Amino acid sequence: MDSLSLVGVSSLTRTISSLSLSSSSSCSDAVSTPGTERSLLFDDYDQSPINRADAGESFILVVGGLGYIGSHTTLELLKEGYNVIVVDDLSNSYLEVLDRIWLLAKEYLKTINRTLPSLKFHKIDYRDPAMRSVLATYDSTDGLGQSRSRISGAIHFAAFKSVEESISKPIPYYQNNVCGFVDFISVLEGFGIKNLVFSSSATVYGSMANQGVPLREEHCVHQQETYVDQLGQQRTVEGGVYGLTSPYGRTKWMCEAILADIARADPSWTITALRYFNPVGCHESGLLGEDPRQKPTNLVPVIMSVLEGERPVLQVFGTDWDTVDGTAVRDFIHVVDLARGHVAALAAAAKRPLREPFRTFNLGTGRGHSVREVLRSMEKASSRTVPVKEVARREGDVGSCVAEVRRAEAELGWRTQKSLDDCSVDVWNFLELSKRGQQI
Ligand code: UD1
Repeated sequence: MDSLSLVGVSSLTRTISSLSLSSSSSCSDAVSTPGTERSLLFDDYDQSPINRADAGESFILVVGGLGYIGSHTTLELLKEGYNVIVVDDLSNSYLEVLDRIWLLAKEYLKTINRTLPSLKFHKIDYRDPAMRSVLATYDSTDGLGQSRSRISGAIHFAAFKSVEESISKPIPYYQNNVCGFVDFISVLEGFGIKNLVFSSSATVYGSMANQGVPLREEHCVHQQETYVDQLGQQRTVEGGVYGLTSPYGRTKWMCEAILADIARADPSWTITALRYFNPVGCHESGLLGEDPRQKPTNLVPVIMSVLEGERPVLQVFGTDWDTVDGTAVRDFIHVVDLARGHVAALAAAAKRPLREPFRTFNLGTGRGHSVREVLRSMEKASSRTVPVKEVARREGDVGSCVAEVRRAEAELGWRTQKSLDDCSVDVWNFLELSKRGQQI
C-alpha cells in the first residue's frame, strides 16, 4: 500500500479522470485558524443550502478522519449530507486522501442531484492544546447571547492501533489512546459537545472469544447488568473482562470504562462505543485504502503485500484451532459497511435517546470466515496463487471471534450489506489502481 502514497496529486487527478470522476476540485483556500499549523477549507457555501433540515449549520467532528476507517466514514457522512470537520495530524495518513474523499463525495452527490455539504480540514494532533482554538471557531451565539457549538457530534479515530507495537511501546499507547483521549473528552465537554462515537474493538472481549460462541455486548460490560442468554436463561454479569492480550486492547477497554463512568455521572452525554470486528476491504473506486505508513500485520494487508511481491509468503498462524478447517475464524466486515455503522450510530443518537447514555454495539457481519477462506477469496479476486507457509499459532490469538449483531440491527437500524468476496475484489482493485496510478 505504500504505492498509494507515491501517487502524486497530478497523477491522482489523471487516475481519477480515467475513472470518470469529477476532477474539478482539490484542496483550496488555505485559511489560518489560530494555533493550528495549517487549515484548509473546502466550502461550497455559494451553492444553495444543503438539503437536510437538520444539517445546515451543524458539523460532525471526525478526529483521525484521513486514516483507513476515518476516511471511509468521512466519505459516508458527506454522502449522507453531513457537514464534516476533519482533524488529522497526518502521522499515519496523507493529505491527498482528503482530495479523494471530496472527489468521491462530489461524484456521488452529483448522481443523486444533491447539494454538497461542507468539508473542513485542520492539520493538528488532537491532543494539542490548540484544539481549543480550532473548536472555538465553530462556536456561535444564539438569540439569547449564549455561546453554542455548531459541532453536533464527534467521532474519534485517532488512536494508535498496532497490537504488536503496543506490546513493545506501551507508554505512547497509554499516552495517546487513554491520556490524550481523556483530555479530548474534557475539551469537548467544555464546548458542550456531548454526543460522541468512540472506535472500540472486539478485542475488549478478551478471553470470552475463546468460548466459541458469538460475542454479544453483554459479554463485556462496565457495570452489573442482567440479560437473557441464547437459551432463555436470565444472567447477571459483573463489570470487567478477563484475558485482554495487549496494551492496545487494554486502552480500548479502559476508554470504554472511562466513558461509561462519564455517562453515568452526567447522563446528558450520548456516547456510542462501536466494537469493530475485523475491518477489511476498501471503497469500490479503489481510491481509499488502508495503512499507508505502517508495516502490515493484519491478515488481508499481509496477503496484499504478498500479492505485491513485498513478502515471499503468507505465514498462516495456527492450523490446529477447533474450526472448520483448523485455521482461525474471524468476522470480517467491509470497511464501507463499518463506516455506515458510524452514520447509523449518529442518526440513532439524533433521533431518539439511546437506551443508556453510554451504549456499546458490535459492528460485524455475524458470520465467521477462516483464514483459509480469506486466502481463497483473495486468490479468486486476483486470479493469483498466494504462497503459504503454515506455522505455529501467533501469541495472543484466539480461535474464533464472531459478532452477535442483533443489538446494532435493532437499535441502530444497521446491518452489513457486503460479503467477504466484495472485500477481496475491492482490495484487489485498490492494488491494481495504485499500480496504474503510478504509471500514468
Ligand atoms: C487484531 C486485533 C484486533 C484489531 C484487529 C484489526 C487482538 C487480539 N486482535 O485482530 O483488536 O481490531 O487486529 O486491527 O488484539 N493471520 C495469519 N497470518 C498473518 C496475519 C494474520 O495467519 O500474516 C491470522 C491471525 O493469526 C488471525 C487472523 O489471521 O487468526 C486474523 O488476524 P488479524 O488480521 O491480525 O486480526 P486479529 O488478530 O483478529
